[in-house]
Amino acid sequence: MTALTLSTAAAPGLRADAIVVGVAKGAKGPVVAPGAEAVDAAYDGKLADVLDTLGASGAEGEVTKLPAPAGFKAPLVLAVGLGTAPEKDAGFGAEALRRAAGAAARALVGAKKAAFALPLADAADAGAVGEGALLGAYSFDAYKETAKSGAKARGDKAPLAEAVLLGGKPRDKAFKAAVERAAAVAEELNRARDLINMPPNDLTPAAFAALAQDAAKANGLKIQVLDEKALAKGGYGGILGVGAGSAAAPRLVKLSYTSSKAKKHLALVGKGITYDSGGISLKPAGHNETMKCDMSGAAAVFAAVVAAARLGLEVNVTGWLALAENMPSGSATRPGDVLHMFSGKTVEVLNTDAEGRLVLADALWAASQEKPDAIVDVATLTGAMVLALGSRTFGIMANDDAFRAAIHEAAEEVGEAAWPMPMPEHLRKGLDSPTADMANMGERMGGGLVAGLFLREFIGEGITWAHLDIAGPAFNEGGPFGYTPKGGTGSAVRTLVRLAELTAAGDLG
Ligand code: BES
Ligand code: MN
Ligand code: ZN
Repeated sequence: MTALTLSTAAAPGLRADAIVVGVAKGAKGPVVAPGAEAVDAAYDGKLADVLDTLGASGAEGEVTKLPAPAGFKAPLVLAVGLGTAPEKDAGFGAEALRRAAGAAARALVGAKKAAFALPLADAADAGAVGEGALLGAYSFDAYKETAKSGAKARGDKAPLAEAVLLGGKPRDKAFKAAVERAAAVAEELNRARDLINMPPNDLTPAAFAALAQDAAKANGLKIQVLDEKALAKGGYGGILGVGAGSAAAPRLVKLSYTSSKAKKHLALVGKGITYDSGGISLKPAGHNETMKCDMSGAAAVFAAVVAAARLGLEVNVTGWLALAENMPSGSATRPGDVLHMFSGKTVEVLNTDAEGRLVLADALWAASQEKPDAIVDVATLTGAMVLALGSRTFGIMANDDAFRAAIHEAAEEVGEAAWPMPMPEHLRKGLDSPTADMANMGERMGGGLVAGLFLREFIGEGITWAHLDIAGPAFNEGGPFGYTPKGGTGSAVRTLVRLAELTAAGDLG
């Protein structure tokens, strides 16, 4: 994991592999962003001209490398694009800084130490640059044997080892806290990415539960793991029904962080399908290659609970990980089977590929039994949500308009793209079943909203609830951008941590 520190060192004398400066898109060409004054001075105040000559424009994510000026201990200056320069007196904004720091850290793969001389107007900016650098430096190479033994031969490079933030106030309480928060959140988010990227032959439900147990021990959390026997005894027909076809049995993990100063209790529920083949309603080739990502909701919940503990938030946070593998086999649930859910309701399974809502239903009902102040579930639930919002935005549904709006605001605040989605009542009747209390599939049109309506049936009376469908942003199939790598992204982790903070402050739920 990349180390993160604040330093008052001056850029010229700093021993590092690179100094990162910001360049913005001005009306008449590139402009050097604040924070890089010492670097610019060493180029005789002509850094903007030099960058212009090199073809740099300051566009978001653009990376330009140039030799450091004479007398600098660092050999390289890396100018990273911040996008359009803000109006006079306005800052660049946290998200522009986060993305630029991420792009720079990504471009510095193989480097040991980089100093970031980006504009830090306040502690929040320092947190954003730190978070961006740690998230951008992420790489998943646990399965690259050549990266471990013969890195040089293959050209695999280790991620940036150390990020130093210049121009902040290392002794200022707010700056220190912002950098500590950034490190905790980014480290846990990167751990969620690792889980998502882990191949499904290794990350079975039991393996996921064991990793949660390790993390619980390391962070002083309470943990309870229900294995297949305990699930059968407890009547968790949804989770068992989805896991029935797999040789790797399902688990329900309850992870609890409690604070002695807590006034509120937030429950987080994550969909943890370690692989979604579709089951008997098998997905066609072309739709199953990335389905190891179907536990991204559980990974996000896991990361958020651990982050809340590391930050010592004054709120109780319970994470529920509904873990199962959805496979076809002679013991698999068939389309037409009826499941007896934990809530007591019966569900006719019409399509075994609509499995997420079945495991979530049991976990949502279990979470409801503790009567938390609010429940938020996170799931790669529907392809329909990807069609609606694209691959970078998650949908928010809720049984409370104000809660949905507050979550949208929190997501925006931390730099996650999200959008409120409705739950039209007329779609509910499509979930009626002639045989059971409900069917697990309704109208195809508005499939993401139908899934939300299904989940709503498993929320305890009077509990505020929201559902985040992260099917689009959970897994990046395209190239990396900003601080987002290819593969598992850690979508929703930062929003969940923010929700826990807001709940602790009494501003939510
Ligand atoms: N895990 C999928 C949803 C998904 C799709 C996640 C694309 C990530 C990317 C989910 O279990 C699923 O298969 N949903 C079905 C539901 C349908 C059968 C009602 C879908 O969206 O097609
Ligand atoms: Mn599915
Ligand atoms: Zn799924």
